[in-house]
Amino acid sequence: TVGNSTNIFWHECPVGKVDRQKLLNQQGCVVWITGLSGSGKSTLACSLGRTLHSRGKLSYVLDGDNLRHGLNKNLGFSPEDRTENIRRVGEVAKLFADAGLICIASLISPYCKDRDACRALLPENFFEVFLNMPLELCEERDPKGLYKLARAGKIKGFTGIDDPYEPPSNCEIEITQKDGICPTPNEMAGQVVSYLEDKGYLE
Ligand code: PPS
Repeated sequence: TVGNSTNIFWHECPVGKVDRQKLLNQQGCVVWITGLSGSGKSTLACSLGRTLHSRGKLSYVLDGDNLRHGLNKNLGFSPEDRTENIRRVGEVAKLFADAGLICIASLISPYCKDRDACRALLPENFFEVFLNMPLELCEERDPKGLYKLARAGKIKGFTGIDDPYEPPSNCEIEITQKDGICPTPNEMAGQVVSYLEDKGYLE
């Protein structure tokens, strides 16, 4: 029995991950960006995607907000739905990495246990990036006006306001302000690129 299914079998294909990696001349992995709404996750994801593209590496961005328009359109923001949201994206990210791509997932992913479950799907090739921006800054930016609605009680269970954000204790990369100044999208991407370079993903 697997999950809720019985009588299911794993089928192996003759062309495998290693064959695909050779073809693409790259190694698949997951860069998982977590942080508050408005912390700049999507901006970082796009900037990183652009940099990797210019370095000849195939990447793909899985953005929480975007996936909620399709794959995850039946999910809301209850703790259970967020957990299912992260679980699905973790599984999709694993498939992308298996396909040989550098998969950039950018979701609030507020709960440690859900991020850890994604990490456990590919422990060797999962890199967690904590976009650690102060709530006050995210709220001041409020690009979609959602913090204002949350403060007014018009959105219930908003992350950072009346739903928790659990910062990671085991992330590979942490991006913060320096002397009260935010790094630019390019600088943030640069920090991740350096890490991937050190790990040999950009050869
Ligand atoms: S989660 O928590 O990981 O499942 O969230 P995610 O899939 O990344 O979606 C986050 C975006 O949804 C919008 N939104 C909310 N965020 C947090 N809490 C509540 N209640 C909520 N309702 C809607 C918000 O625009 C998030 O976008 P980002 O890009 O993070 O700012």
